[in-house]
Amino acid sequence: MSVSIAPSILAADFTRLGAEIARVEAVAVEYIHVDVMDGHFVPNITFGPPVVRALRQITNVPLDVHLMIADPDRYLEAFVEAGAASLTVHAEVTPHLHRTVQRIHALGARAGVAINPATPVHVLEEIVDDLDLVLVMSVNPGFTGQAFLPMAVRKIEATRALIAARGGRATIEVDGGIDASNIAQVAHAGARLIVAGASVFHTPDPAAAVAALRQAAVDR
Ligand code: DX5
Ligand code: ZN
Repeated sequence: MSVSIAPSILAADFTRLGAEIARVEAVAVEYIHVDVMDGHFVPNITFGPPVVRALRQITNVPLDVHLMIADPDRYLEAFVEAGAASLTVHAEVTPHLHRTVQRIHALGARAGVAINPATPVHVLEEIVDDLDLVLVMSVNPGFTGQAFLPMAVRKIEATRALIAARGGRATIEVDGGIDASNIAQVAHAGARLIVAGASVFHTPDPAAAVAALRQAAVDR
């Protein structure tokens, strides 16, 4: 199964982000994944709009911004203005998902909704037709380098069935613990946009790691 790879800069060396991104640009990655964490919704704090703006200046690769923050509505405009191509909010902290997704589209970005491991796929039922992305978390969000939760595979399958049943167009994205040992499984289940942090940047050659992931996704 052919997939798109979105390296997560959360796992990159922050002292040389430009060089790290250049390494994965060399293998034409489809997105750069940017993990925004607020220390409330998740137990970690990372980047805000200024970092997205800085990234936008050093790369043309579209920025896939994953908002792991409480009350994401307050920041949608700032992230799109900073240069986000897609904004993904979490179902668990977004009470008016329909309005939020409309707002993201009105701002001119692609809209995604993420679900944590314990959140059932059916919460997406009434919104899935409006989405560009459904992000199935395969770890509990907060940190890079955690172990893949196999339960994500059946959730990806259920998401695929839901999108098909509703006639939606959403791409299924998976995030957390993806490496060459499990990428074929999630691709086979229906994931087409694969976030990879540690398995790309915690290696001596991130470009080779992306190529190996793409290869592993079709080996099955
Ligand atoms: C987890 C983040 C992920 C993380 C993935 O909370 O949403 O995007 O950076 O990193 P790995 O691939 O190392 O699990
Ligand atoms: Zn993420």
